[in-house]
Amino acid sequence: MRGISVDFEGLKKFVDDYEFELIQEQVANAHSKLENKSGLGNDYLGWLDLPESISEEEVNNIKKAADKIRKQAEVLVVIGIGGSYLGAKAVIDMLSDPLYNLQPLSKRRGPQVLFVGNSLSGKYLRSLIEYLRDKDVAVNVISKSGKTIEPAVAFRIFKLFMEEKYGISGARERIYVTTDENDGILRQICNAEEYTSFVIPKNVGGRYSVLSPVGLLPMAVAGINFEDVLDGALFARHMYNVSKVEDNDCYKYAAARNILYSKGKDIELLTTYEPTMQYFGEWFKQLFGESEGKDRKGIFPASCIFTTDLHSMGQLIQEGKRNIFETVLNVENVNSMIKVPEVENSIDELDYLENKELDYINKMAMKGTYLAHVDGMVPTIQINVKEMNEYNVGQLIFFFEKACGISGYLLGVNPFNQPGVEAYKKNMMKLLKED
Ligand code: PA5
Repeated sequence: MRGISVDFEGLKKFVDDYEFELIQEQVANAHSKLENKSGLGNDYLGWLDLPESISEEEVNNIKKAADKIRKQAEVLVVIGIGGSYLGAKAVIDMLSDPLYNLQPLSKRRGPQVLFVGNSLSGKYLRSLIEYLRDKDVAVNVISKSGKTIEPAVAFRIFKLFMEEKYGISGARERIYVTTDENDGILRQICNAEEYTSFVIPKNVGGRYSVLSPVGLLPMAVAGINFEDVLDGALFARHMYNVSKVEDNDCYKYAAARNILYSKGKDIELLTTYEPTMQYFGEWFKQLFGESEGKDRKGIFPASCIFTTDLHSMGQLIQEGKRNIFETVLNVENVNSMIKVPEVENSIDELDYLENKELDYINKMAMKGTYLAHVDGMVPTIQINVKEMNEYNVGQLIFFFEKACGISGYLLGVNPFNQPGVEAYKKNMMKLLKED
């Protein structure tokens, strides 16, 4: 069942219908390059088939490992960076209680899930280790290349931590590796230590890997039904597979981005009114930033949580340089059921809100902001998500992945490589080796 819909009304002032007709041929071309696997980066298109290519055996292995982790650990530490953690973090946050990690074990759906190896901050790592000293821990280290410095350093520290805490064989029972089938140092370590492991398919790049074991194992540990996520993605795989822009919201979104870009709108702001979606914004930024930002081209992907950021970024969005367009993620049914209480003789001037649901007030803020931004010349696309459940999250993930592939081809870049990320690493290595 369709869980998401896209409203393009907020583009009317900025993009004429004939502009979608003009771009149709390029979209059809991008569609066939993607679907026939004949375009740039075509050896990294495995993500298109992930919702259905996963075998029953793999599903069972993920469930088995997740059950074991849920029994043996109070905390799962996920070590990874970029595409090797953002998707899992985003999905867990969206589908869990906002205070999941703070809830007592009896209330939580699974172990706490904490992330590390996504920075080089010694302060964070030290603090995490101190926190874990008296807890039962499992570790899932995730790296496709198996050589990325941030997770590699964190894993060296955590391997030792686990071996000191549980002994070598005890640690072996609690360390889970997700990496390439054959290549990379992490695979070598995994084989030598005989850790339980999962495979990131060769033809799936990091930022497109959330529907592989990279995202599925941490989700399962957090009590998320990942098969429903995959089902939702599969539905989207079929729904967004027609080349006609007018019949395909995903392609229309990709086309709109490129039309707006050609008019000088080179910043896309993904906004949401639910703080639990903050990391979905981070995942989106990596997906589009690394896919499109190359050859001196690319839309700068940004994200905001409203109404919070209306009090920090609102002024700039409303009246600053007119190079922004906005994509609003609207969760239609939040069902949180909390009202502004009725009180006698109040002096806080909130009587007009008495007995109103917070969600209703949030929606009015969203409507008001939408109107203000469109009036202020910010083209706005609204993506409506019926409710936050596994199936709809799967659709949302696939919607953005496919839109990103199409949008990258429309822009004329290879959306599936990231040569630029090597530059900082080269300099850092040189500096570290000179020392
Ligand atoms: O999209 C990508 O390929 C990258 O952002 C990677 O996800 C990130 O650099 C982490 O790489 P790895 O999984 O090899 O450690």
